[in-house]
Amino acid sequence: MYAYSDFDESFVRDRVRQFRDQVARRIDGRLTEDEFKPLRLMNGLYLQLHAYMLRVAIPYGTLDARQMRQLAAISERWDRGYGHFTTRQNIQFNWPKLGDVPDMLDALADVGMHAIQTSGNCVRNVTSDHFAGAAADEIADPRPYAELLRQWSSDHPEFQYLPRKFKIAITGATADRAVTRAHDIGLRVVARDGAVGFQVSVGGGLGRTPMIGRIIRDFLPEADLVPYVEAVLGVYNQLGRRDNKYKARIKIAVHEMGLDTIRDLVEARFAETRSEFPGAEAALAEIRAAFRAPGFRAGGTAIPSGSPAFRAWADTNLAAHRRGDHAIVTVSLKTPGQQPGDASADQMRVIADLAETYGYDEIRISHRQNVILPHVRKDDLPAVFEALAAAGLAAANAGLISDIIACPGMDYCALATARSIPVAQEIAVLFETLDLAHEVGPLRLNVSGCINACGHHHVADIGILGLERAGAETYQITLGGDPTERIAIGERTGPGFAADEIVGAVERIVMAYLERRESRDETFADAYRRLGLAPFQEALYTEGSKEDAA
Ligand code: HEM
Ligand code: SF4
Repeated sequence: MYAYSDFDESFVRDRVRQFRDQVARRIDGRLTEDEFKPLRLMNGLYLQLHAYMLRVAIPYGTLDARQMRQLAAISERWDRGYGHFTTRQNIQFNWPKLGDVPDMLDALADVGMHAIQTSGNCVRNVTSDHFAGAAADEIADPRPYAELLRQWSSDHPEFQYLPRKFKIAITGATADRAVTRAHDIGLRVVARDGAVGFQVSVGGGLGRTPMIGRIIRDFLPEADLVPYVEAVLGVYNQLGRRDNKYKARIKIAVHEMGLDTIRDLVEARFAETRSEFPGAEAALAEIRAAFRAPGFRAGGTAIPSGSPAFRAWADTNLAAHRRGDHAIVTVSLKTPGQQPGDASADQMRVIADLAETYGYDEIRISHRQNVILPHVRKDDLPAVFEALAAAGLAAANAGLISDIIACPGMDYCALATARSIPVAQEIAVLFETLDLAHEVGPLRLNVSGCINACGHHHVADIGILGLERAGAETYQITLGGDPTERIAIGERTGPGFAADEIVGAVERIVMAYLERRESRDETFADAYRRLGLAPFQEALYTEGSKEDAA
């Protein structure tokens, strides 16, 4: 586990001290809200519909039990006893009181956490594969690189006022579980001629103008990571549009100027500045030592047999570990009916206990808003399952239709044009009631409450976008989006659906898939690639099909 250096520690504490003073001045009126806003945003504090919201970074999605317990304690002491895990490996507290926030930040600093650069036009939390360090298909653990980038980007003097926010994701495996191509910079570890480096994409993003990142460098040697990323940022900082915030992301610069122009500018800057960097070897060696694999204990070669409930959970919520005697456990925060991505303080503590007892004190947060225990001995799986089940955390639905990503939408977010949480809840409950989720198999369904696309709807098999039309909520559907290495942006099916129609519409899509798939092995994504949009449009919009599914 990476531990803060003395420099990190004093930097974070200084920030809290500064912010405590700013909060005091806001509360006694010496600062207006307009003056205070940029200061609070620099510390991850947003103002939402009903209250402030504090967004805390979980770098590369990695936590230990002590940190998870502290998040639980913070949520109980200063919030409403729960936290919301987001698609960018952050946790959000939805109800803090302004005067309490400095104490919350101090409590975070006690366990090496903070909320810096979780907002604003800077380099945001660098996200990573949630199976990092454990996945069977991993070439190299991406987290040391992510940590290197965290150190480089934190308080970087040149990149605090970029044209717009900047998001970097990195994966070290052959499967892309970090949605790298939907990020401003996406990094994929690749091996070439025995050397490790990166395939670099640039200009990906979701939001109102979804774009897939373009490959700007096929192979970037490991040692050049920081100077090259800095060159990209430097070019973007100069060229990104500051006249229009909707056109300010690097994806627009790439689109408007062309990839070749951007590449030439980046390479020129890189060539010019590279010699100023000390090289990554020493820093990486030190960081890597903090990410050493735990001392694994032998753990049985097969998954133990157990109750039908255990088997159903094992079928969906386990993934292949690089050691045959271990498994990666997904702890679902998507029990049908619950708010996707929320965990109560008690649940956080259960997860922390399990991580300590059975998981070598390691926890990850996934961009699908679930929690991961990355290293569990196969022999221990039944005990882990029982403890999770007792805490309401054993929904057997990882990767299924009820494992829905949903942004806060109109229940919390000031920018929302529609509700997203209730839609997600209703869909999850429907498929639970129909007992169909396992029959349908892997299917990503994501919901966003406005065009900003925080709920990743563009890259879902079934994406739902909530909008407001003539004073009423309406939900547009996109199909065929894919967040993996096969990255695709979903296609719109046609006119949207009213709030009371959207769940039925999803049901018709799923029924159309079940009728048309070639076998149970053909996933929704594969069937969609074969069939295209037409049969689903027919199921959605042909009169009669609506009544069938009513
Ligand atoms: C206070 C609440 C929030 C506000 C005000 C907010 C605001 C925004 C805005 C304005 C964008 C569009 C950026 C652009 O296109 O340039 C965006 C994108 C995004 N947000 Fe949020 N967001 C909020 C909460 C969340 C939450 C809870 C999540 C995770 C569940 C999230 C994850 C993302 C992601 C993944 C994107 C799209 C990726 C991209 O930037 O291209 N946001 N957000
Ligand atoms: S997609 Fe829109 S409604 Fe949802 S969290 Fe983002 S800004 Fe808010």
